[in-house]
Amino acid sequence: MTVMMRRYGGAPDLRAMQELTQRLWSLASPHHVGDLAWGRFMYTPDQADWPIALWEDRGRVIAWGWAQFPDDLRLQVDPTYPRLLDEVLDWLDELAAGNPREINPLDSQKEVQTALLRRGYRRQESGPYFAYHMRDLADLPAVVLPEGFTARAVAGEADLNQRVAVHRAAWNSTRVTTDSYRAVMAAWPYRPNLDWIVAAPDGRSVANCLIWCDDANKVGLIEPVGTHPEFRRLGLSRAVCLAALHALKDVGATTAIVCPRGDPAYPIPQRLYRSLGFRPYDRTRTYTGAGRR
Ligand SMILES: CC(C)(COP(=O)(O)OP(=O)(O)OC[C@H]1O[C@@H](n2cnc3c(N)ncnc32)[C@H](O)[C@@H]1OP(=O)(O)O)[C@@H](O)C(=O)NCCC(=O)NCCS
Repeated sequence: MTVMMRRYGGAPDLRAMQELTQRLWSLASPHHVGDLAWGRFMYTPDQADWPIALWEDRGRVIAWGWAQFPDDLRLQVDPTYPRLLDEVLDWLDELAAGNPREINPLDSQKEVQTALLRRGYRRQESGPYFAYHMRDLADLPAVVLPEGFTARAVAGEADLNQRVAVHRAAWNSTRVTTDSYRAVMAAWPYRPNLDWIVAAPDGRSVANCLIWCDDANKVGLIEPVGTHPEFRRLGLSRAVCLAALHALKDVGATTAIVCPRGDPAYPIPQRLYRSLGFRPYDRTRTYTGAGRR
């Protein structure tokens, strides 16, 4: 029997979703255990309380839905339960109550796209999208830093304030806070040895790269990367990514993935990752829905 639960996804619910995401992971998968943790915990709970639903069969999660309206609706369905796809889409449509919404399947997810078209969603041919990139970890170049700069993994709580400060400076946003980043650090599968920062000669943290490792699939997701605006174009994000990628390889992963914007309106991150040897393998497609089925 299939059971559906609707919840406001705290850490145990997220962990249950991640089990399915890990079990299904492949290059044809839109989700990685790390993007779920980062997406849910990067902001404080008052800004991250969108509904999550889990479908279970005999205690095992077989589908989930994530309803962050209007433009971050996610879902994942075990392909051995194909009929659940419409059930999850029903749940999202019901919550939308006729309001505009957006779902972004991978280009390779033809069955999801067919279902969305059948349900009245429309495909958008322009606008933002995410370009999925991958890199084998076998042939990583060495880390090169400008004179006086150093790279190291964070030391947990002792580095919390600096870690949050560099993220806020890079993104010009105060939404990530010490409380929210503490929750990121407590989330599975965060590891401080895959969370890297670069310090300037004066000791300030000026660049960062966090990698989330899915041990079962030996694949790490880079999310996020940033460099303080005063220190850009010095090779710091390349260096901090490479330092974190070497650490990822040291913990046994064989592949890294990253999902920057692919559209011309936000081109720089994609250039950075391609300069690091990442190559594109898939992209998101945007489907917008409005009104009831
Ligand atoms: C994207 C970002 C991390 C780049 O940081 P950075 O430290 O300036 O990047 P680097 O100096 O290491 O540059 C590495 C490569 O990226 C590309 N790149 C970086 N900045 C660029 C720019 N302004 N224009 C064109 N290419 C650029 C280049 O290929 C560069 O190599 P090159 O200098 O040898 O040509 C930084 O601009 C940033 O923090 N942006 C805001 C946060 C963000 O978008 N993060 C990425 C999200 S996925």
